[in-house]
Amino acid sequence: MSGEEPTGGDTAGGDAVLRAIRTRRVVRALADAPVEPGQLRAVLDSARYAPHAGNRRLHRYVAVTRPGMLRAIRMVSPGMLQRPAAAIVVCVDWAGVRAYGFPESNPGPYVDVGTAAATMLMAAHGLGLGAGPVTSFSRAAVAVLLGAPDGVRPELIVCLGHPSPQQPPPVRRRGGPAWTDQVRWEHF
Ligand SMILES: Cc1cc2nc3c(=O)[nH]c(=O)nc-3n(C[C@H](O)[C@H](O)[C@H](O)COP(=O)(O)O)c2cc1C
Repeated sequence: MSGEEPTGGDTAGGDAVLRAIRTRRVVRALADAPVEPGQLRAVLDSARYAPHAGNRRLHRYVAVTRPGMLRAIRMVSPGMLQRPAAAIVVCVDWAGVRAYGFPESNPGPYVDVGTAAATMLMAAHGLGLGAGPVTSFSRAAVAVLLGAPDGVRPELIVCLGHPSPQQPPPVRRRGGPAWTDQVRWEHF
């Protein structure tokens, strides 16, 4: 039997960071307006505040704003349902990973892609931008488009833009799972 849930110290709705976490959603309906360079820089800068395995910075971030390149990336990205005004391609320097001595089985570099992406999504949300991650794309094709050096592979794309005034009705967290469904206290 699972342990008892501790009670007390309710934070519902009171904290700005928690409110931001609870209100972030993937935004796929984006306007054509460009993302201001200062906003793009702020989102890029946020990635370095994400926790990284071994505190190694083995990721590279390619900011893409040119419409032709964005179109080309979309053509090889079936999961890119939005038309972003800008995109940040998160790449892993796998040659650097090997040189550092991470074994192939170490999940750290992939976890770091997630921590960086989550941090940039929150930064975009804080700036009032619409943002969404995409992993359904051809890594090989995007690597060629970006001229990625040997050993550097795109792993995730953060799409950015200004939210379109016409948004689809909000997707409610359809009934579950509630956080309590996925949590056990102290042990399984
Ligand atoms: C690792 C990862 C990969 C994802 N890949 C895609 C993708 O290729 N295309 C897409 O539209 N959304 C993608 N998403 C977004 C999820 O579909 C979205 O986060 C999920 O439906 C929950 O929606 P929410 O973030 O608005 O709560 C991805 C999310 C993660 C974490």
